Amino acid sequence: MSEATRQAGAEAPAPGPRVLHVAAEVFPLVKTGGLADVVAALPPALAARGADVRLLLPGLPQVLDAVQAARTLLPLGPVFGAARGALVLARMPGSALPVYVLDLPYLYRRGGGPYADAAGRDWPDNLARFAALGWAAAHLGFGELDADWAPQLMHAHDWHAAMSCAYLAAHPPTPVASVFTIHNLAYQGVFPREDAPQLGLPSRFMTPQGLEYHGQICFMKAGLKFADRVSTVSPTYAREIASPEYGAGLDGVIRSRGADVVGILNGIDTEVWDPARDPALAAPYDRDAPAGKAVAKSALQHACGLAADPHAPLLAVVSRLTGQKGLDLVLAALPALLRDGAQLVVQGSGDAALEQAFVEAAQAYPRSVSVFTGYDEARAHRVIAGADLMLVPSRFEPCGLTQLYALRYGTVPLVRRVGGLADTVDEGRTGFLFDEPSAPALQAAFERALQAWRDPARWQTLMRAGMVQELSWDGPARQYLALYAEACRAREEAPRRMPGG
Ligand code: ADP
Ligand code: GLC
Repeated sequence: MSEATRQAGAEAPAPGPRVLHVAAEVFPLVKTGGLADVVAALPPALAARGADVRLLLPGLPQVLDAVQAARTLLPLGPVFGAARGALVLARMPGSALPVYVLDLPYLYRRGGGPYADAAGRDWPDNLARFAALGWAAAHLGFGELDADWAPQLMHAHDWHAAMSCAYLAAHPPTPVASVFTIHNLAYQGVFPREDAPQLGLPSRFMTPQGLEYHGQICFMKAGLKFADRVSTVSPTYAREIASPEYGAGLDGVIRSRGADVVGILNGIDTEVWDPARDPALAAPYDRDAPAGKAVAKSALQHACGLAADPHAPLLAVVSRLTGQKGLDLVLAALPALLRDGAQLVVQGSGDAALEQAFVEAAQAYPRSVSVFTGYDEARAHRVIAGADLMLVPSRFEPCGLTQLYALRYGTVPLVRRVGGLADTVDEGRTGFLFDEPSAPALQAAFERALQAWRDPARWQTLMRAGMVQELSWDGPARQYLALYAEACRAREEAPRRMPGG
């Protein structure tokens, strides 16, 4: 061995753990919210730190169409009502990241979204669809589905992947450790108890110590009860969900896990969200050459039919339109927000009544309010780049990514002090916060923002402070690796948590 090789060998990072991420969505293949962005960016960040990471996804048409170098690993017999299927091994598009795709045509190959049909009605067979995903994850863990690779640790995201923790627990003790991440405790995957036999789990799992939840079955509980460690996406939300106010009925279960529940703040993909190299923007910019930001603003005003006024503070919302996001507060405060010549651009879809209310607001103020009720990724980049202020008035917010994208784009966040918003925005330094979920509280924060806006030097300082904030996945990836090590130690020391055990 030459000296150079020996040195290179000595410097190579110690091989990291073999980790399987299990999730229902991943950007850019399937996305309904921030979960997809996290599942796209965290695995590569872990791989960059030496972990041997793979992904398991359901075989939705958008996934099967996009993955590369796909080959069937194993035909699958009848599972969860699907007469036939296969486990496919492929690569994520444009990346080396291996991805297992659970191709069960009967369960997954259909139009509409990952959880609901085009009209927004939950798929009636969601129990089977997401039990199957968890079942496949656990059996990959047992080494039964791929002779060449098995994870040491399973990382399951949200209720869609949570059943993997129950299927792991149902088997005689295995060395596979598990981490369950809550991205949003409000969506729990609750099904009628009568459907429990489809899960193929021993009856002891159908008790309050297991998946039972007020006489129903709750998939989220599988993750909360059986994972070796539970994480959520900000330290503040980790504390909040231990309280009845934010616990969505599961705060008791959260409290029962004590210090096993931790908060790790999300990062952002600093390549996808980079104003200096963003293909959606006409003129790139960064903190040292911010001129392109004014170009983005005037382009946005033009595209939205707003008055072409560089001095009008331009507020933006890019959001799912649901009760969580507190956008009724924006509607209630609207006349006050617009009073001083401010403008508002809203891009969002979801709740029909909220969509309608915003459309009516745009009709009432055609030169100062513009609403786009649809989903458009490139357009979201242009809105975030072109705005001066990003409004995120959420009633609860596990982490929130749009305020992070805003910070990176020099768009000052105005947010409610809750969950990850409280952990990422600094009053008066990088943005503005309010406490009470009320229109007057939002207005008061806006007044403070307006004062800063009227002082261009102060505004530049605010923008710059946000643009230099460290938002990459590097730090969070390191924290997850430490959590994985803890989960693996816990797995070695303790037998698998069993209902009643
Ligand atoms: P949540 O996951 O609760 O919806 P996040 O802030 O974590 O909230 O993530 C939302 C993600 O969805 C961001 O990437 C945001 O840009 C994107 N998004 C939300 N609404 C739209 C839309 N109408 N068009 C394009 N992107 C959207
Ligand atoms: C959820 C949360 C959001 C978080 C995202 C990614 O959708 O609502 O706050 O940023 O997951 O973790």
